[in-house]
Amino acid sequence: QAPVITVDGPSGAGKGTISHLLAEELGWHFLDSGALYRVTGQACLIEGVSWDDHPAVTRVARHLEVTFTAADNGEILVAYKGRDVSREIRTEEGGRGASTVAAIPSVREALLARQREFLQPPGLVADGRDMGTVVFPHAPLKIFLTASAEERARRRFDQLRAKGENVSLPRLLEDIEERDARDSQREVAPLLPAEDAVVIDSTALPIADVFAKVMQEVSA
Ligand code: CDP
Repeated sequence: QAPVITVDGPSGAGKGTISHLLAEELGWHFLDSGALYRVTGQACLIEGVSWDDHPAVTRVARHLEVTFTAADNGEILVAYKGRDVSREIRTEEGGRGASTVAAIPSVREALLARQREFLQPPGLVADGRDMGTVVFPHAPLKIFLTASAEERARRRFDQLRAKGENVSLPRLLEDIEERDARDSQREVAPLLPAEDAVVIDSTALPIADVFAKVMQEVSA
């Protein structure tokens, strides 16, 4: 079977950037598991299903018609039933929806097989919260990327500002702390590093240095 490298950690720790770079460097496939939870939340809004209606949300997850396609500029376009939802799923509301539906055990179960289908030769870089603990527990290399909540909020702030969005830093910090709490206090797959994960704290590390550390682990 093809090899997999898992990259887990809290919101805004730089997992997305690092795992994209890594997949590119290795020429491997890439799984953005957060996008699956985000699309599930968005699909519920589209289908008129409340995030609190667990059986209905589970049905949405089980039959999720989602496609990922690479655009010419390298960006990944995400579509639900053929409709481009790339922008909506990346909003703060999209993040709230994702973490709300992600706390439902039967939703996680429904998305499990779909995530494992991404594991194809020559290999996979899997980005998420439970890639190393639940989805790919036999991964030979597991990275857990973290940073202080303040630093993560600041990075999110810069990102959103660059996109021309009007955001407030205290509000983002609040959002991140709320999401951290929900992700780490839930019953299933709470956010924790796998026992055999390499933990990297990126609070004071520029992305290039984090990537260099990860590459060291890859070649070790
Ligand atoms: O970019 P960010 O880390 O903020 O978000 P994401 O990776 O797209 O994940 C959005 C939400 O989905 C997280 O807050 C988690 O609640 C949930 N999630 C999860 O439960 N398990 C995963 N493997 C990935 C995401």
